[in-house]
Amino acid sequence: MSKLSHAQWSSKMAFILAATGSAVGLGNIWRFSYMVGDSGGAAFVLVYLACVALVGLPILVAEWLIGRRGQENPINSMLDLARQSGRLPAWALVGASGVLAAFLILSFYSVIGGWSLSYTLGSVTGQFTGQDADGIGALFSGLLANPTALTLWHTAFMALVIFIVARGVTKGLEGAVRTLMPALVILMVILVIYGMTTGHFGEAMAFMFSPDWSAINGEVVLAAMGQAFFTLSLGMGIMMAYGSYLGQDVSLIGTARTVIIFDTVIALLAGMAIFPIVFANGLSPGEGPGLIFVTLPLAFGNMTGGTILGLMFFLLLTFAALTSAISLLEPTVELLEERTPLSRVAATLVAGVAVWVLGIAALMSFNVWSELSIAGLNIFDFLDTLTSKFMLPLTGLGAILFVAWRLDRDGVLGELGLTGAQAQLWQVVARVVAPIGVIAVFVYGLI
Ligand code: PFF
Ligand code: NA
Repeated sequence: MSKLSHAQWSSKMAFILAATGSAVGLGNIWRFSYMVGDSGGAAFVLVYLACVALVGLPILVAEWLIGRRGQENPINSMLDLARQSGRLPAWALVGASGVLAAFLILSFYSVIGGWSLSYTLGSVTGQFTGQDADGIGALFSGLLANPTALTLWHTAFMALVIFIVARGVTKGLEGAVRTLMPALVILMVILVIYGMTTGHFGEAMAFMFSPDWSAINGEVVLAAMGQAFFTLSLGMGIMMAYGSYLGQDVSLIGTARTVIIFDTVIALLAGMAIFPIVFANGLSPGEGPGLIFVTLPLAFGNMTGGTILGLMFFLLLTFAALTSAISLLEPTVELLEERTPLSRVAATLVAGVAVWVLGIAALMSFNVWSELSIAGLNIFDFLDTLTSKFMLPLTGLGAILFVAWRLDRDGVLGELGLTGAQAQLWQVVARVVAPIGVIAVFVYGLI
């Protein structure tokens, strides 16, 4: 064993923290739990776990590898690598579609980040104390019905994102990720323990882990795969961009495993905290995007020390959302900076304001524009579905196909440190299992 130098260690650590900051966010707590509830529970969870392991892990590794080799923004990295290996420049579309997806996602992500901010304040003012399920539900419906309030919170959240990205102080957040993410885990564990006291923990565990296989259909499978991409920040070029800062000493597979385990544990804890509250209060698991906002305040409103714990929880959730949101804005800003004469600050303002406007359209879905539909979905659901179920998996598919089929095989295996049986396994998973998995889910999901 050679002794790792401090510089290597800290660069590796900094990388893990940045990747974790992007991965862990609203996707784990807000989106995971509402998707599980909407899709009927355990069958979704198990397909999701399979997608994370068999599709998510190889694609995460592939994106990092492309970024580390290309050493540039996702579009240029794909372009350079394609040219170097005599491939068509059209591969660069993989990078471009990723940047667009990140832009679209941020618009509705910021709306939910705004809800989280609003609930942080609501915890401070003791709004939730002693409320029953009806009272908490009414508070949430009141927020949804009020476009002005939603716009203000969305604006506040986006302003924070723009401020941080414009100043280029993203790096400064990595230190905070290191302490705040474990704190979030501890609060989740406290919530799970609260769930155990509700008398409905067993029911919740069965809902999450004991599958009714007949509940599986194309829609559930597509949703589970979409969630796997969303939660791991895949198919957006973001992980590719991070890969370009990655030192040669970092093990891609080992690091991917660490980030994925952390992300998955947080999601599962969120479900184990939320569903006991759902069942104990006679709520519906299929509540939709409001699920965590009509359940968790009930726990905080009724437990000892709930006010302070609730405040801490929503603050940490907002922080996790911010670190993800920053990573969603970065690609557009970098692109504008490189391709236009705009300065960083100007590029951030242009990109941020464009996202903000789209976000307002998304938040109107909950009130004045609730009847407006595109392809049978309101604007919010349309943006979410288009990105997570279509754009991300397709972009991710492009990345894995490129690495597994278009780059030099031995070079890639060497870079991943794989030999013998492990190399065989990688070849099978990366060339066949992951791409066929994505394609099969599409075909199955669409028919
Ligand atoms: N992975 C983040 C989450 O789970 O909340 C959301 C996200 C961040 C998605 C960054 C995509 C992305 F590029
Ligand atoms: Na996540």
